[in-house]
Amino acid sequence: MSVSIRELNPLDESAFLKGAAEWPPEDLTWFTFDWKPGTDFTEHLERLRKNKLGLDLPQGFVPSTMLYAFNDAGEIVGRVSIRHELNAHLRERGGHIGYSVAERFRRRGYGAALMRAGLDYCRNTLGLSEVLVTCADSNTASWKIIESAGGVLRDKVMNDGELARQYTLDLR
Ligand SMILES: CC(C)(COP(=O)(O)OP(=O)(O)OC[C@H]1O[C@@H](n2cnc3c(N)ncnc32)[C@H](O)[C@@H]1OP(=O)(O)O)[C@@H](O)C(=O)NCCC(=O)NCCS
Repeated sequence: MSVSIRELNPLDESAFLKGAAEWPPEDLTWFTFDWKPGTDFTEHLERLRKNKLGLDLPQGFVPSTMLYAFNDAGEIVGRVSIRHELNAHLRERGGHIGYSVAERFRRRGYGAALMRAGLDYCRNTLGLSEVLVTCADSNTASWKIIESAGGVLRDKVMNDGELARQYTLDLR
């Protein structure tokens, strides 16, 4: 498995559109929070740039970076969203790092690779010493990824009627 995990650039439009088509419309937030069919790609890149810098953020959003994972065929297999800081909502559910892999690419280690890339970014680019990562108690794949990366289970809380796990990871 070879994978390149990075921010989008202007040459990625067709890979991005193909990647978005992997997801049913109701699950599109697993691929993107800011793009919907018809959004101009250049405008989308500008939104991502502003998200990173914390400019003109929608209400309730914190600065964030989105990285996409490309396989060796140049296809986008998944993404990781990195929240630069936590707010009350993210502290409960969401945490610093959220990742997803399109269904046909699952169980090949991409999820774990996205988690590692997110942790590297938190440590090396953001200078964080500890991160919070959450997942549904029922999401075995996700908590396996978190625990393999060194996550320590802090709590299990009810959130929107669903039991969620909260893990911390020490980056020092
Ligand atoms: C969670 C998700 C990212 C996992 O991606 P993936 O690329 O399949 O993950 P990996 O291949 O790195 O597998 C990670 C571990 O989970 C295990 N795993 C993967 N899918 C599994 C499943 N459906 N049931 C049980 N274990 C599973 C793998 O065997 C592996 O375990 P191992 O480390 O013991 O070998 C993917 O299923 C997904 O995108 N789900 C929807 C979005 C989501 O839930 N994101 C997480 C939010 S907290």
